[in-house]
Amino acid sequence: MDGIDALRDKYLAATAEAADEAQIEAVRLSALGKKGEVALLMRSLGQMSPEERQTAGPALNALKDDLNAALNAARVKLADAALDARLATEWLDVTLPSRPARQGTIHPVSQVMDEITAIFADLGFSVAEGPQIETDWHNFDALNIPGHHPSRAEMDTFYMARAEGDNRPPHVLRTHTSPVQIRHMLENGAPCRIIAPGRVYRSDYDQTHTPMFHQIEGLAIDRDISMANLKWTLEEFASAFFEVDKVEVRFRASHFPFTEPSAEIDFRCSWVDGQLRLGEGDDWLEAGGSGMVHPKVLEAAGVDPNRWQGFAFGLGIDRLAMLKYGIPDLRAFFDSDLRWLRNYGFPALDVPTLAGGISR
Ligand code: PHE
Repeated sequence: MDGIDALRDKYLAATAEAADEAQIEAVRLSALGKKGEVALLMRSLGQMSPEERQTAGPALNALKDDLNAALNAARVKLADAALDARLATEWLDVTLPSRPARQGTIHPVSQVMDEITAIFADLGFSVAEGPQIETDWHNFDALNIPGHHPSRAEMDTFYMARAEGDNRPPHVLRTHTSPVQIRHMLENGAPCRIIAPGRVYRSDYDQTHTPMFHQIEGLAIDRDISMANLKWTLEEFASAFFEVDKVEVRFRASHFPFTEPSAEIDFRCSWVDGQLRLGEGDDWLEAGGSGMVHPKVLEAAGVDPNRWQGFAFGLGIDRLAMLKYGIPDLRAFFDSDLRWLRNYGFPALDVPTLAGGISR
């Protein structure tokens, strides 16, 4: 049938020309839609003679199939072209190196605190904590430092402001970690072996003092703990911390209201060409204070001094960190960009991308 072939040519050409999905759909509707030319022809089959229908029917069906096939092929071609276009533009070079990530590092003081904690854990000490804003009772009175005692003034205490008319004694920023002794014994009694690392505050600022610094308190209470146990513990600690065979500890008679007797802790050392060597030589390095816990302190903390005794010590963490890593100015820890610490070979900083600094 000529008419059918003409329709086929017409719509195949239109399909070939269709540039997008909408145009393909338009071709489909005008050919095969309800009122499309092919559909109308299909409907005219009813008026044909049976002989005519016998040839026209299959021919029309074949036309329908051909057009559907062509339309589908055109759709697939369009989709392929769209995909090719995306593949050409939206590609990713997975072999490119990644952008450098900004990365933080452990602060040297935090790292040293972790090191110290691990060493004392090996010696059987667990970690205790207390608040940095402390009552003056825990910070002073319970530690046998009465109100008039000069060391309240010596410690350059920061006092928290009270509201007008509130006459309770002021809270303080703890001046040492010793109040944790009181809190721990009040809560847990004796015996005990704890360390208490943390921040302490004094109004002081120069090359070796910052208003906030870090201490580590030690407390061991039992039936027959002595200064000898204290000395051994400190020597074990110092040897492990400075990674040498043995660091000798020297006690220098001292005075703290909360210990009796009291001793300043020195580690044997020498300075060779400006370099500190621990455990050898004839110099001594001041590391902190210590002593046997005063009976009045045990009493204030609810522990019977007739049954229990023990030692306490307080070490300056920042100073230990400076000495271990050869950092000359304490303020560098808290005031400045930490990147320069890499000059001192601080291992925790051996990552290339510490961005910015630490500021307060
Ligand atoms: N608390 C004391 C200080 O900060 C140190 C210390 C702790 C001394 C424990 C003796 C016993 O100076």
